[in-house]
Amino acid sequence: MEARNLSKSNVGAVECGFIQHVPAHVNDRRVGRKKFLPFALPHITQAEIDEVVDTLRSGWLTTGPKTKRFEREFAERVGAPYAVAVNSATAAMHLALDAIGLQAGDEVIVPVYTFTATAEVVIYFGARPVFVDVDPVTCNLDPTQLEKHITARTRAIMVVHIAGLPAELDAIHAIAKAHNLPVIEDAAHAFPARYRGQVIGAISDLTAFSFYATKTLATGEGGMLTTANPEYAERATMMALHGISRDAWKRYTAEGSWYYEVLQAGYKYNMTDIAAALGLHQLARCLNSSHLLALATREAVECGFIQHGRRVVDFQSLQTLIM
Ligand SMILES: Cc1ncc(COP(=O)(O)O)c(C=O)c1O
Repeated sequence: MEARNLSKSNVGAVECGFIQHVPAHVNDRRVGRKKFLPFALPHITQAEIDEVVDTLRSGWLTTGPKTKRFEREFAERVGAPYAVAVNSATAAMHLALDAIGLQAGDEVIVPVYTFTATAEVVIYFGARPVFVDVDPVTCNLDPTQLEKHITARTRAIMVVHIAGLPAELDAIHAIAKAHNLPVIEDAAHAFPARYRGQVIGAISDLTAFSFYATKTLATGEGGMLTTANPEYAERATMMALHGISRDAWKRYTAEGSWYYEVLQAGYKYNMTDIAAALGLHQLARCLNSSHLLALATREAVECGFIQHGRRVVDFQSLQTLIM
């Protein structure tokens, strides 16, 4: 690719990492960087490396003791009674909609500005995402636009916390309560964020987190569904592993048995112990505010919220993103 062929938008795309493998001389001349800015540079320490090696040596690679420990510690961290570890936030949101019993022909409220996964999972059911406008400053669902989109077919409200800034949950919950609708949070960007002092993960009926490579807590691919509802948790656990009555780990433990029932056609969404090994240490480190501030600042620069050293979107404060 010749430098002169790079349009202004291409330069932006290169800076954001949407275009990779551009020859170094092009980068140097047009972007002014000596070093290529990678799309996703996770913060991996020796602790994660040792834990993954320990997993590899343990002989247990798939869902097992480390995934179960990660679920317990994550649940405790966000104050949710139940956490189900899966292989993406997309899977977690799919399981959330399954847990509330979404059917073909139903409607689900989705903010108009989000990643494709939030709406995509609604379509999996043959249901319809109904898009609601967002606040132009926060880019989060605008509660004043919500109620007029609720119909007799609406089954749930999905809320996204863009760039880790929680949406207006009080106003959204008031409308949801008035219409007897569950709220599902797409918290892919929001670990560990707080809304009015409360950690995201135990506020709405169901909350989905992403541990994709670019996230504050990164396991490569991974996700978590949290809830206070034991029926939702039980259903999500079962559907995350082919709809069978017990996972492989339970079959192996002392009290386990090889016998299981296939209760329903489910999915293959379980988290591996290799991913959980990363997650355990990422989770512990996410409690460290300097780690988060560094990640949040990088994200803000990449998203264009900070340009030339100045904030161009006033999303309260980066402090919102950290504990
Ligand atoms: C807002 C939002 N929701 C959902 C997802 C999907 O996350 P995952 O890749 O873990 O499925 C993303 C991914 O970046 C996202 O940005």
